[in-house]
Amino acid sequence: MTLQIKTLDEYKAAWQRSVDDPEGFWAEQAASFQWRKKWKKVLEWDFEQPDIQWFIGGKLNITENCLDRHLATRGDQTAIRWEPNDPDAPVRSFTYKELHTEVCKAANALKANGIGKGDRVCFYMPMVPELAIAVLACARIGAVHSVVFAGFSATSLADRIKDATCKMVICSDYNDRGPKHIPVKQIVDEALEMGCDSVETVIVHRNTGDALAMVEGRDKWWHDEVNHQSADCPAEEMDAEDMLFILYTSGSTGKPKGVVHTCGGYMVYTCFTFRNAFQYSDGDVFWCTADIGWITGHSYIIYGPLLAGATSVMFEGVPTYPAPDRFWQVCEKHKVNIFYTAPTAIRALMAAGDQWTEPYDLKDIKVLGSVGEPINAEAWHWYDEKIGKKRAPIVDTWWQTETGGILITPLPGITDQKPTFASYPMPGVQPVLVDQFGTEIVGNDVEGMLCIKFPWPSILRTTYGDHERCRQTYFSTFKNRYFTGDGARRDEDGRYRIIGRVDDVINVSGHRIGTAEVENAINEHPDVVESAVVGYPHDIKGQGIYAYVITSHAVGNVDTITKEIRDVVTRIIGPIAKPDIIQIVPGLPKTRSGKIMRRILRKVAEGDTSNLGDTSTLLNPEVVEDIKTGALR
Ligand code: PRX
Repeated sequence: MTLQIKTLDEYKAAWQRSVDDPEGFWAEQAASFQWRKKWKKVLEWDFEQPDIQWFIGGKLNITENCLDRHLATRGDQTAIRWEPNDPDAPVRSFTYKELHTEVCKAANALKANGIGKGDRVCFYMPMVPELAIAVLACARIGAVHSVVFAGFSATSLADRIKDATCKMVICSDYNDRGPKHIPVKQIVDEALEMGCDSVETVIVHRNTGDALAMVEGRDKWWHDEVNHQSADCPAEEMDAEDMLFILYTSGSTGKPKGVVHTCGGYMVYTCFTFRNAFQYSDGDVFWCTADIGWITGHSYIIYGPLLAGATSVMFEGVPTYPAPDRFWQVCEKHKVNIFYTAPTAIRALMAAGDQWTEPYDLKDIKVLGSVGEPINAEAWHWYDEKIGKKRAPIVDTWWQTETGGILITPLPGITDQKPTFASYPMPGVQPVLVDQFGTEIVGNDVEGMLCIKFPWPSILRTTYGDHERCRQTYFSTFKNRYFTGDGARRDEDGRYRIIGRVDDVINVSGHRIGTAEVENAINEHPDVVESAVVGYPHDIKGQGIYAYVITSHAVGNVDTITKEIRDVVTRIIGPIAKPDIIQIVPGLPKTRSGKIMRRILRKVAEGDTSNLGDTSTLLNPEVVEDIKTGALR
C-alpha cells in the first residue's frame, strides 16, 4: 500500500526523502498499484516548455485500480453511498462489485455509441451516482471526461464543448437541487444550438422523470443504452501520460482553460494525498461535499477514495435544504468519519445558529477538512468546537485545479494545528515564496508569491488545445517555477498561510471566477460602455463581486439596469458569477497608458478610501472622487 505517515518524524523523513530522491520516493508509492506494464523511467521534466512526464512507459487503467483491484478483498464493501436532495427519498448504495458492474455496463454503452480512446465526452449533470459511474466508464475505455459544473449557463457549456470538441454530452433530464427544479437537458439543448458541431450523441439520464423533448437521432436515454449492456468490459490499456480528463477553470485573462490531467501521476498522487491528508483508515466513511463539477469532486469524491478502497458519500443537495442542519443530519445518518467541505458552507451554517448543530453528537467524526478558499479564524474555531467538538483535527488543505491533489495541508493528529494555516507541504511538494522579480525569499516569517519549484505527479500537463497558454500562465512568470497565482506567508516555524489570489481571479464561495470573464459578460449589455470587476470581502462567500459600470447614457432607473446586468451575467456565465454590487460610474480610473487602476477600485470596494495613494498621475483623476462618493459599501 501507498505510504501512510503516522508520526511527525515520519513526515519529516518522508518529505526530506521526496526532495533528495523524488524518483525513488514516487516509484515506491506507485509500486502498490496495478500496472499492466511497469514504467521505464519515473520522471522527466522541463518547466520551460513545459514538458512533464511521470512513470514514463508505464501502462495502466485507473479504473482497474479504483475497482477491479478491490474486488477480491472488498467487493461487498460500499464504494459509493448516495444521499439524495430530498431527505426522505431512498439512499442508493453501490458496493465495489456493483460499481464495477455499473461502470462496465456504462462503458459498453459508450462504446456502442461510437466513443473510443481519446474521444472527449462532456458531462452536464447533477450529483447523481450515474455521474460518477459514467466518468469512470470514460476512464475505463480511455475516453477523456470533461465535467462541466451544472450551474454554468448554456453559453459557458457550449464554449467548453467546442473547446474540447466533445463527441458526446451526458446529462440528466432535470435536477432538484435544494428547493430548485433545474431543466438540465433544456440547457444542454440551448448549448447545442450554439454551434457545437462535434456532438453526435446526447445521453440523457432520467432523474426526476418530468416530461422532456428528445431530439430524434441525437438524444438517447441512459436506461435504453446502458441497462441491457454486458457487465464485462475489459479496461483499455492507457499510457501513464495519456489524458484522463479535462477540467475547465478560470484565470485572470480570456476564457476558461481546459486543465489536462493524465492517468499515472494523477492516480498515484490523489491516492497518496487522500490516505495521508485525511489519515484514512480502512472502513472509514468519507464525505466530501464538493460537486464533481470541480476538481475537489474529481479527486476526493471519485478517484482518491476509490483508489484507497474507501466508502465515499456523494450528496445531491445543498447544506441548507430543507434546513441548515442537513450536513450534520447526513453525517449522523451515514456515520461519517471524515468530513471535507468549504469555508463558505461553514460560515453559512455558523450564521444560521448553533441550534442547528446541537441535536447531533457527531461522535463518528475523526477528521474535518476545509478547501477552496482561506478559512477565517472565526469559522475555523466554530468548526473545531461545534462540529469537531475539539476532538477532530482540522485539515486546511490548499491546492488547485491545476495541482490535481492537495499540496499543502496539516496532517491530522501528526502536525500541529494553527487556525488559518494550511501549514506544511505534502511529501513531494517544494514550495517557495518569491518577490515580484522572481527572487526567492528565504528564511521564515516572510511573505511572497507562492511558487512550486519541482514537479509532483499530478501537476497539470497542458491546457487543452493551447500549450502555449499553459506555459504563459503557469511557467513564464518566474523562470523554472510553477506559479500558483496565490500569495502566501510563511511563519516563524515554516508553516504556510494562503493569503489569496494575487492575480485578477476572485474566489467567490470557493469558486474561481476571472474578473475579465465577468467584465466581458457585463459588456454584452447594450447600454454598457465599459466595466471593471474586483473582489471585496464578503462575510459568507469569502469574496463578493463588485462591478463598476459605465453606461452609454444616463440611466433612468438604476435598479432596472443593475437587474438587467445581473441577468446578462447569469445568462452568459451562470448565477455564480452574478455581481453582488453594481455601481454605475462616470468613468474608470486609468493610467496614462489606458490601464485600469484596479488597486483604487479594490480599495473603494473594500470600503477603505482613506489612502488611495497618489491619484494625480491618472489620466482622469476626477473620476476617483465620483467613485468614492457613489461607493456602495
Ligand atoms: O486561491 C486558492 C484557493 O483556491 C484556488 C484554486 O481554486 P480551484 O482551482 O477552483 O480549486 C479549488 C479546490 C482545490 C487557489 O489558487 N484555495 C484553495 N484551497 C485553499 C485556497 N485558499 C486558501 N486556503 C485553502 N485551503
